[in-house]
Amino acid sequence: MKALVLSGGAGTRLRPITHTSAKQLVPVANKAVLFYGLESLAEAGITEVGVVVGETAAEIQEAVGDGSKFGLRITYIPQERPLGLAHAVLISRPFLGDDDFVMYLGDNFVVGGIAGLVEEFRTHRPDAQIMLTRVADPRAFGVAELDAAGRVVRLEEKPRRPRSDLALVGVYLFTPLIHEAVRAVQPSWRGELEITHALQHLLDSGADVRSSVIHGYWKDTGNVADMLEVNRTVLEGVERRIDGQVDETSELVGRVVVEEGARITGSRIVGPVVVGSGTVIEDSYVGPFTSISENCRISDSELEFSIVLRDSSIAGVGRIENSLIGRHVEVTTAPPVPSAHRLVLGDHSKVQIRT
Ligand code: DAU
Repeated sequence: MKALVLSGGAGTRLRPITHTSAKQLVPVANKAVLFYGLESLAEAGITEVGVVVGETAAEIQEAVGDGSKFGLRITYIPQERPLGLAHAVLISRPFLGDDDFVMYLGDNFVVGGIAGLVEEFRTHRPDAQIMLTRVADPRAFGVAELDAAGRVVRLEEKPRRPRSDLALVGVYLFTPLIHEAVRAVQPSWRGELEITHALQHLLDSGADVRSSVIHGYWKDTGNVADMLEVNRTVLEGVERRIDGQVDETSELVGRVVVEEGARITGSRIVGPVVVGSGTVIEDSYVGPFTSISENCRISDSELEFSIVLRDSSIAGVGRIENSLIGRHVEVTTAPPVPSAHRLVLGDHSKVQIRT
């Protein structure tokens, strides 16, 4: 069994973090969302992985390499333009051959991995298997309609009036029957060859398409609360590991990860917390469910339930909570006079100021 990981698409503004970048590299607990996907494929016993890449190919290849650090052998499959998920399958046929495969969307996050789902597929080997999850706003997803017995009867891509709240999760298991289906579909209103349509084609031709409903699913929809929540869920599972330097005036409580090259002085850190390499924390408090990426500097401040991306600094500002701080951000105190806020804020920033 092989895997096809979709990491193509255009470089988009990472909502809510305004940087042009590969969305598959959004960090969750200091690790790219794509890496969790690759790890879960390795965990499911898969080694041959095709990675579909687009405009951001260089960035993806630099991050993933030849796959050996994940125990995978990776073949990069360039896609000229993001012409749809079914198009990605179409161009990957030479790599996939006649093997069964998992198609994994690189911007999706499945808590707990996919080993159980792959095992279930191997045991029953239906023509295709999809995963569904209940979401608050199904209009942003492919949506499944099930009959009374729980069988999939209809799939719709981004419907204006969804018939259920069951969204298609970006992990699909296919037999080679899918190749016929992706050849049969026409571009949708958004000009893409939709995998949802290829699946509908399989259903219409009487194929056995099974589904299972999963819990613990996330993709970046630009919602800060969701991002903080998935960060919290992942941090729940970290084990204490101190590879960096911690001076004797600092106190680390519970599950704290301090990466090699990080330095903590005069501070109290209450886990679960991860601190990336090269980051310095001095005379500060860092509270539970906080991820601080590489090369940051936190001084004379308090930080809790927050994410700080790399190369940012926070100095002398008191307490910060429930916050997402992007890359190369500086948070500092304002001079006492004149009494006004001086701001340099990126697009889509949200700032709360006490008046
Ligand atoms: O995330 C789950 C949803 O993914 C499903 O509910 C939908 O049914 C499915 O169509 C898909 O919807 P999106 O519109 O959110 O997919 P997106 O364009 O974000 O692409 C998903 C991943 O696949 C992302 O990592 C980029 C990559 N991709 C996308 C396209 C269209 C490619 O590599 N090539 C492509 O041509």
